[in-house]
Amino acid sequence: MAMQLDVALGERAYPIYIGEGTLERLTDAINAVGQKGTIGLVTDSNVGSLYAEQVEAHITATGRKCITHAMPAGEANKRLARIEEICGTFLDAGLDRSSLLIALGGGVVGDITGFAASVFMRGIPVIQIPTTIVAQVDSSVGGKTGVNHPLSKNSIGAFHQPQAVIIDMTLLKTLPERELKAGLAEAIKHGIIADAKLFDYMVDNAAKILDYDLAAITVPVQRSCEIKAAIVAEDEKEHGVRANLNYGHTFGHAIEAVTEYKVYLHGEAIALGMCAAAALSLELRLVDQTFVDQQKACFEAYGLPTRWPDLPVDACMMAMQKDKKVRAGTLKFIVADRMGHVVQRTDITEAQARAALEAIR
Ligand SMILES: NC(=O)c1ccc[n+]([C@@H]2O[C@H](COP(=O)([O-])OP(=O)(O)OC[C@H]3O[C@@H](n4cnc5c(N)ncnc54)[C@H](O)[C@@H]3O)[C@@H](O)[C@H]2O)c1
Repeated sequence: MAMQLDVALGERAYPIYIGEGTLERLTDAINAVGQKGTIGLVTDSNVGSLYAEQVEAHITATGRKCITHAMPAGEANKRLARIEEICGTFLDAGLDRSSLLIALGGGVVGDITGFAASVFMRGIPVIQIPTTIVAQVDSSVGGKTGVNHPLSKNSIGAFHQPQAVIIDMTLLKTLPERELKAGLAEAIKHGIIADAKLFDYMVDNAAKILDYDLAAITVPVQRSCEIKAAIVAEDEKEHGVRANLNYGHTFGHAIEAVTEYKVYLHGEAIALGMCAAAALSLELRLVDQTFVDQQKACFEAYGLPTRWPDLPVDACMMAMQKDKKVRAGTLKFIVADRMGHVVQRTDITEAQARAALEAIR
């Protein structure tokens, strides 16, 4: 059964459709945006060969023309040169201010298409059709778009909220298992930061979820969207509560940086980061050992890493210091004080951060 959720952002409010077969909603969603020009569909080499034709059929059913640009898949392609190529395809095809872009893919396609839409002709609307768990529970909702620079990840971008997000669970059937598990780390995170019941659900339903039971997966996708939508509605530009979504990310980003994004998928690095954040929470006496063990057992049930025996603590500390410079001199740690609730701390000492990293070695 399909459900609709609304992201309450005033005149930039938008619906998220979640369920099996929600692609059927695309025609109406396009008509609701009202742009009459040619539609630019951006996808990647993997997702395009699986689903582009199906999506194109829904687009042309509106009477509009559709031009598809399939970029090469992978994080290495989330860079400015690809934006120029996308704009080139669409300028060549005559797209203009009356056009609309549609992103069909994971977080890479979603971030790059959202950014392309924010700059093409100084900004045109975008609809997101996320096809990975990461994109469904995280990147397609909230309006953060952008590309990486060789010196820093996600450092070139814009806030550009979509006009609609269409989450069709059936598209997950082809998602590789490792990508499924890594994406679920973000759903588990939503449970830890905001909803103890969601965390319990993830613990109780691991077998069904890992068996690609779409009805079972819909629950955390829907609940994650509700949690993220509520946080974004309260703090769109991350001046306050939105940073809670970064639980595990200060450590996780450092782990990704020192491994040059080559060893762990984002969700896997964040699972390790959340284990370090739990260790820090324990060190601050905000939670007890049971919390740390529960979180670890849940990640293990999903085949996510919880230890990295070779973790280079010094290199991770340096990566966090670099991150601190980028973030105007403050390093924020999100720590848990009970299951389903977190707090933000900027007073963590180097020794405490170091001890948290040591705890996951
Ligand atoms: N904007 C945000 O708020 C936000 C939040 C979290 C993550 N992100 C970004 O998201 C990106 C990671 O996204 P991701 O994990 O979705 O990676 P991804 O987009 O690279 O997709 C992972 C792989 O799965 C393939 N794939 C996608 N959907 C598929 C499907 N249904 N069937 C078969 N294969 C499929 C892709 O082609 C790719 O090879 C990172 O760049 C990260 O920075 C952004």
